[in-house]
Amino acid sequence: MQTKFLLEESQMPKYWYNLQADFPEPLPAVLHPGTQQPVGPSDLEPLFPMSLIEQEVTTEREVEIPEPVRDVYKLWRPAPLYRAHGLEKALGTPAKIFYKYEGVSPAGSHKPNTAIPQAFYNREAGIRTLTTETGAGQWGTSLSFAGSLFDMDVTVFQVRVSYNQKPYRRAVMETYGAKCVASPSELTEFGRKVLAENPDHTGSLGIAISEAVELAVQDPNTKYALGSVLNHVLLHQSIIGLESMQQMEMADCWPDVIVGCTGGGSNFAGIAFPFMGHALRGGQKSRIVAVEPSACPTLTRGKYAYDYGDTAHMTPLTKMHTLGSDFTPPGFHAGGLRYHGMAPMVSHAKELGLFEAVSYTQRECFEAGVLFARNEGIVPAPEANHAVKGAIDEALRCKREGKEEVILFNLCGHGHFDMAAYTSYFAGDLSDYEYDEQELAMALSGLPSVSG
Ligand SMILES: Cc1ncc(COP(=O)(O)O)c(C=O)c1O
Repeated sequence: MQTKFLLEESQMPKYWYNLQADFPEPLPAVLHPGTQQPVGPSDLEPLFPMSLIEQEVTTEREVEIPEPVRDVYKLWRPAPLYRAHGLEKALGTPAKIFYKYEGVSPAGSHKPNTAIPQAFYNREAGIRTLTTETGAGQWGTSLSFAGSLFDMDVTVFQVRVSYNQKPYRRAVMETYGAKCVASPSELTEFGRKVLAENPDHTGSLGIAISEAVELAVQDPNTKYALGSVLNHVLLHQSIIGLESMQQMEMADCWPDVIVGCTGGGSNFAGIAFPFMGHALRGGQKSRIVAVEPSACPTLTRGKYAYDYGDTAHMTPLTKMHTLGSDFTPPGFHAGGLRYHGMAPMVSHAKELGLFEAVSYTQRECFEAGVLFARNEGIVPAPEANHAVKGAIDEALRCKREGKEEVILFNLCGHGHFDMAAYTSYFAGDLSDYEYDEQELAMALSGLPSVSG
């Protein structure tokens, strides 16, 4: 009975995979926030180095992973694939459950897969300072880690609710030498405006992005790094699925169902896109399920429309599933899933019918995470609990239907910095935020009017 499927360092992929090459229809254009005309590379230059802008627009199927990036990846990659024997037994399911574990990275999640190349390309372009936002604290930690390796200054705007919930995340960022600020903050004009209107604002990813972008555009030696959503981020995360494909072959299995949680869409794309591409090129097809929180139901209840990526409307307009850039989701504990939008590539794949989406409330996700911890030993991040819940529901369906399907899910991070949330769950203090129809309708009514 084999539990771990491990690759040698020499088997680590040397290329990232780009689903843009296999989309049956191209992605809708990205529009300039002022002119609403398609953006060119130079429009993005104040924010990103040219090498990342090229990766944003490329339709090449394979993009080489630079050797210095692969050398850092080796600190934790290839990441293990596990067969969840304990969970299968606890559920009494005939399904075979596998999970790819990304919590083995120094930051504890999949986020360094893109933080490392982003810091590398910026450093190559001579940039000394990076700004960013963080929701769960995982991304901020990852970019701080990457900044320390490539000798760069990093300023992280952490959504206030998460800053207060997770003081040790900030301590880790500071250990790596980064500066961590609660957002909204007094550091930026936009932060001051938000605080003037509501001094107790709990913050949102949209606001934190605006603050980070505002600092970046003011200084030519400072650039902005985003932890999800963008095409180049999804490209970097494809290493998750590429490794998983090799590992599923080692296990002599191929997934019938693939499950991932979605905040901005990067870990889901990471595990799912290489399999989607494989099927689009005529290979075996897997059912793919995205899991999101009911309190921030971007894919299941949002609108597919052009919208801004941030609250201050400084970012370009992209066509995506959105709840409206003014939507402030309630302060539930999966901070990394509290984003109003969805990656344009994930949204496009959804419109093309390449995957399904479901939503769950936070308490049922914690219940799933606790069951997982008690049978597999790993305490998942609250975000990852959504994928755990999705996988368990698929396994229970297999039990009802008497099917021996193979289920693969992405356990995108551990929850060691999220224990306050588990404590609240055990104390019965967590509530299932009702999806606020009225607030959502209001936020959606503010969508920009763009034809297309
Ligand atoms: C552990 C973890 N999982 C998931 C997410 C959601 O992001 P994405 O959908 O881009 O993977 C985050 C974001 O912060 C995270 O920290």
